[in-house]
Amino acid sequence: MGFVNLLTMAKRFTGIIAILLLLRLTTASASHEFCDARMGYNVVGCGGSDSSSRRILIKGGTVVNAHHQEVADVYIDDGIIADVKPNIKVGDEVTVIDTTGKFVMPGGIDPHTHLEMEFMGTDSTETIDDFFSGQAAALAGGTTMHIDFVMPVNGSLSLGFKAYVEKAKKSCMDYGFHMTITKWDDTVAREMEIMVKEKGINSFKFFLAYKGIVMINDELLLEGLKKCKSLGALAMVHAENGDAVFEGQKRMIELGITGPEGHALSRPPLLEAEATARAIRLAGFINTPLYIVHVMSIDAMEEIAKARKLGQRVVGEPVVSGLVLNDSGLWDPDFNIAAKFVMSPPIRAPGHGRALQAAVSMGVLQLVGTDHCTFNSTQKAFGIDDFRKIPNGVNGIEERMHLVWDTMVASGKISVTDYVRITSTECARIFNIYPKKGAILPGSDADIIILNPNSSFQISSNSHHSRSDTNVYEGWIGKGKVEITIVGGRIVWENNELKVNLGSGKYIKMPPFNYLFDGIEKADVSYISSLRAPVNRFKAMQ
Ligand code: URP
Ligand code: ZN
Ligand code: ZN
Repeated sequence: MGFVNLLTMAKRFTGIIAILLLLRLTTASASHEFCDARMGYNVVGCGGSDSSSRRILIKGGTVVNAHHQEVADVYIDDGIIADVKPNIKVGDEVTVIDTTGKFVMPGGIDPHTHLEMEFMGTDSTETIDDFFSGQAAALAGGTTMHIDFVMPVNGSLSLGFKAYVEKAKKSCMDYGFHMTITKWDDTVAREMEIMVKEKGINSFKFFLAYKGIVMINDELLLEGLKKCKSLGALAMVHAENGDAVFEGQKRMIELGITGPEGHALSRPPLLEAEATARAIRLAGFINTPLYIVHVMSIDAMEEIAKARKLGQRVVGEPVVSGLVLNDSGLWDPDFNIAAKFVMSPPIRAPGHGRALQAAVSMGVLQLVGTDHCTFNSTQKAFGIDDFRKIPNGVNGIEERMHLVWDTMVASGKISVTDYVRITSTECARIFNIYPKKGAILPGSDADIIILNPNSSFQISSNSHHSRSDTNVYEGWIGKGKVEITIVGGRIVWENNELKVNLGSGKYIKMPPFNYLFDGIEKADVSYISSLRAPVNRFKAMQ
């Protein structure tokens, strides 16, 4: 490995000044192996002990929940919020944080990430951020929990789950899992049941794109929707027509368009809208709730709006790249710059992002994720001669909270309470972990951020905490800064320094039958009773 590469990697971790080992999930030897492996990253303090206070008083800030905001104090004891009210009195042993003039909000929950994921079967191997670096980055940006997509191993959900339990042992914040379904048989159906009833998974993702890799057909989607409904699990879809994308890709190659711009040209909004509409209609036919991941276009958003207007239970998740970027980067003459923007569905032409922001502000789309799925420029260069081989994915886990604040709250598009709803609370509600997560209420987990609206943030790959050497938001300067992140009752981000605890993150089991399932059986009953009685026909006499 070259000196420059080492230096770059070291830079990635200059913000991480100490890793305090809490061996809650890992064995001592496994953790030390991890520490040793990170010595090249300028990490100091492996093997230290956690000395941070277990009692914290957050004083005088504006405490914001999705339903209400007020000036109050928040008292944290042993990782849990013990009290929220004005003028809480405490003893000397408590760490006091003065938050006058600042917002005290639930930590962000990112519903959509891919850490340490093998993807697209190329030499690019795995996404560059694992459960440690991805989560460290998240904490530096005010996100305190995420839900990652487990990939099955050879179609086996149990093996996939096992593999992700291993990967997640490095965690420094809480996390949950969605499960991806890539094939169908009785074993998969049985394993879905185990995932829900024993493993704490309440959502399954179906890819309608990535033909020949993870794409499934309508027959499988229907089976999956039926199974999800019976288990009270939420069906999620990646909505693009994979057959048509395949055709679009061939068309671009025949035209000699092999660069990153060919990626966007091969899979226009039309194909996203078709798959979104199809998935919505099939979910409506089965009568089960549906969650559309990474809504990237006006066309797809309008399909969701139409269905919701008709009363269908459809959730739309835009991601921050789709909200704040446009496709111009894909035409950059520098391959490295253009390739870093390649994700699916593609980042769209100017106009889509603003329309998606409006849809979020009006409640047509309900929560904002990232689809954090980072590949560095070496990995992206695998597709230098053919855009089809560029691993798909962009960063965002560290940037989401700042960018949504800057583009939506600082600009006056949404209220601060709505900010909490779309970055945290709604995710907790949909995945059935509210109010343990997503709220600042007595009894909730002490995952809290303190945001100064008068301070500013700046994004650069030189200072971010992801392991990637690029950042799709490079150079962005905006208003509002997460000055403090508290996770599980510990201050992990303060004065631009991270003090994260390796292995301290817990797996959060998510129970089935969220609020979207309430009363769903009544629609089934009324459907059955709406059917006209079958006609009794007499056989004609011979
Ligand atoms: O380009 C993307 N979105 N990569 C991650 C995998 C997915 O489709 O969510
Ligand atoms: Zn996807
Ligand atoms: Zn994704």
